[in-house]
Amino acid sequence: MEKRKNLYNQLYRWYDQNKRILPWRETNDAYRIWVSEIILQQTRVEQGLPYYLRFVERFTDLESLANASEDEVLRYWQGLGYYSRARNMHKAALQLLAEGKKEFPTDFQAIRTLPGIGDYTAGAIAAFAYNSPYPALDGNVYRVLSRLTDCEIAFDTTAGKKHFHEVAEELMDRDNARLFNSAIMEFGALWCVPQSPDCEHCPLAAFCLAKAHHTVELLPVRKPRPQLRDRYFNYSIYLCKSGDGKLQTLILQRQGNDIWKHLWEFPETETNESFLKNDSPHIDLTHILSHQRIHARFYIHKVSELPKMANCKKVSWNELDDYAFSRLTLRALEQLGLGL
Ligand code: ADE
Repeated sequence: MEKRKNLYNQLYRWYDQNKRILPWRETNDAYRIWVSEIILQQTRVEQGLPYYLRFVERFTDLESLANASEDEVLRYWQGLGYYSRARNMHKAALQLLAEGKKEFPTDFQAIRTLPGIGDYTAGAIAAFAYNSPYPALDGNVYRVLSRLTDCEIAFDTTAGKKHFHEVAEELMDRDNARLFNSAIMEFGALWCVPQSPDCEHCPLAAFCLAKAHHTVELLPVRKPRPQLRDRYFNYSIYLCKSGDGKLQTLILQRQGNDIWKHLWEFPETETNESFLKNDSPHIDLTHILSHQRIHARFYIHKVSELPKMANCKKVSWNELDDYAFSRLTLRALEQLGLGL
């Protein structure tokens, strides 16, 4: 296994010289590693870092997260998207506390069964916090593995996940899971990048089948993306000066099994294929989510009295800060010069 040792040596030397200093790499605290991994699931490091720092400052451990309201947790998540991640973290914290556990579980299976935790996150926590020999395959790692092995199985299919999991289990340095997973992930993020990687100077070139076969740029392969579903949202922003001169408006919390569950927004009516007709001034925004394209029209209604509307809450404008809104609504407020 001389070759394997050489690969580790090359990879670790590269990592030692090139790794970014990131706060979740400076700790073995499973709670903090969990928070970082959930944030980084759909978010780049530069964007996620300030969220991470704010989050662990406010919710320092499992207990403080469980004791917070879901609303407050969502507020700390505001703008990151994929809000079920935050709701699931809160749910997991409540579940652990209800079971009398004040510390994060140490066993892979126990970690894996928590809400919002799949194979990737469970592997990452087990390896980064406890140095347990589990692989953590994120997009970067899939790219590195598919190139090293020159494998064109789509990694985002059930068969692909299983295949690359086996490749990772086979390749991984079981005695140094923390180091191995960190290094291969960072190598994918910084060196073995999607476009135009520098294969000529690559420290792993001697081990890379894709380099030998000139297929690097074709890898990794993913399954074809599904078409985006178009939806039309008509929002009403009511503006009403109250007796004491304060600007008031109506907001409500989204319910049901849909996007932005439990986030707040202006009253909204969804229509098919086009917007409602209305003479009030408006702006239009298009907002792309992973599976949907939201066409949104925001009507401004200046009124002398706020209408009575089911489930709506009357709030003054300077209180809007206390509520978590979707990125779309924040964008609309910014465009209207009404930014929070
Ligand atoms: N992306 C996912 N997990 C990460 C980590 N621990 N460090 C840097 N980027 C990551």
